[in-house]
Amino acid sequence: MPVPDRPIVIAHRGASGYRPEHTLESYGLAIEMGADFIEPDLVSTSDGVLVARHENEIGWTTDVSDRPEFADRRVVKAVRGVDVEGWYTEDFTLAELKTLRARERLPQLRPANTAYDGRLEVPTLDEIIQLAQRESAARGRTIGIYPETKHPGWFQSIGLGLEEPLLAALERAGWTERDAPVFIQSFETENLRMLRGMTRVPLVQLLESSGGPRDLALRGDPRTYADLATPAGLAEIATYADAIGPHKDLVIPRGADGRLAAPTPLVADAHAAGLAVHPWTFRSENFFLPADFYVGDPSAADFAGTHGDAEAELAVFYAAGVDGVFADFPDVAVRVRAALA
Ligand code: G3P
Ligand code: CA
Repeated sequence: MPVPDRPIVIAHRGASGYRPEHTLESYGLAIEMGADFIEPDLVSTSDGVLVARHENEIGWTTDVSDRPEFADRRVVKAVRGVDVEGWYTEDFTLAELKTLRARERLPQLRPANTAYDGRLEVPTLDEIIQLAQRESAARGRTIGIYPETKHPGWFQSIGLGLEEPLLAALERAGWTERDAPVFIQSFETENLRMLRGMTRVPLVQLLESSGGPRDLALRGDPRTYADLATPAGLAEIATYADAIGPHKDLVIPRGADGRLAAPTPLVADAHAAGLAVHPWTFRSENFFLPADFYVGDPSAADFAGTHGDAEAELAVFYAAGVDGVFADFPDVAVRVRAALA
C-alpha cells in the first residue's frame, strides 16, 4: 500500500463540488486542485466495459430520459432490493453510452454546475487511468485512483462481474503491486474477499452509518456495518482489506441538535487492527455540514447550498487522526491539510 506521510485527499467523484460528477473534467479539475487520488464509482456496460457512474441507474446523471431512441430501455429493477424505474448501464453498449451527456446530480445545491450539463461524456475506467497517469507524468507527482465496485453482487448475478475487468485495466496500466497508487473499495464483503485472492493492490471495506452489507443479508448473515466497526469486526476486515472507508458519522457522530458529539473509538480501533481510515464525504454546503459549521441565515432560501465552514469541519477530522478524506471540494481538503502541516 502506498504509505503517505500525510492524510490523503481523495477527490470524491472528481471535484464534484465544481463539475458534474464522474466526468473527465471533474477528475481533471481535482488533479489541478492537488488531489492525491481520484474516485470513480464503477459500473458495467452490456459489453463488459467499466464506466464511471454513481449508480448503474443513469436517469438522474445523464440526458438519457430526453433521448427517444432509448425510451424502450426504461425498466424496473431491484438492484438494492427495492424496485427502481430507470435506465441501467448494463442495458447499453459502450458506444450507446458514449452518445449520452452528463448532468449535475445536485442542481438545487450546485446550480453553477448545470452550465456543464449536456457537454460532458461518461468516461471509461481506461480513460480515467490514462488521465491519472498522463497528469502524474506532467506534474511530477503521483496521482492515483480509488475505484469503487458498485453493486458487485448484482453485476456478478447478471454475468457482468466488475472484478476481472477492473484488474485487467489495472494490469494494462502496470498497477498490480502493493505499492500501486490504487485503493479498491466496496460496500460488500464477498467481492473484497474474492479480490484479496486476485490482487495485491490495497482494498477498502466501506462502512455505512446504518444497515448492513447486501451480500451478507442475501445469505442470511445478520451482521450489520455497526458489527463490522467493532474491534472484532475490524480484526475480521483486516484479514482481507487494508483500510476502512466509514461514513464520517462513524468517526464523529452528530447529536440530535445536528452538532458534532465526541469522537468514537473507531480510528484507534481500526489503527490497532492495522487498518487505515478514510471517511466520507466532506462537502462544503450547509446542507451536508454539522450544525457547528453553518454559515448564513438558516431561514434564507439559499441556505442549504451556501457554503459553511468546511475548513473547520475538516480540521476537526484531521485532528481525529484519519488517514485520508473523501472530498467533493478537494481544494478545501488540500488547503486545510497544508495549513495544519
Ligand atoms: O465510496 C465512498 C463514498 O463515495 C460513499 O459511497 O456510494 O455514496 O459514492 P457512494
Ligand atoms: Ca464512491
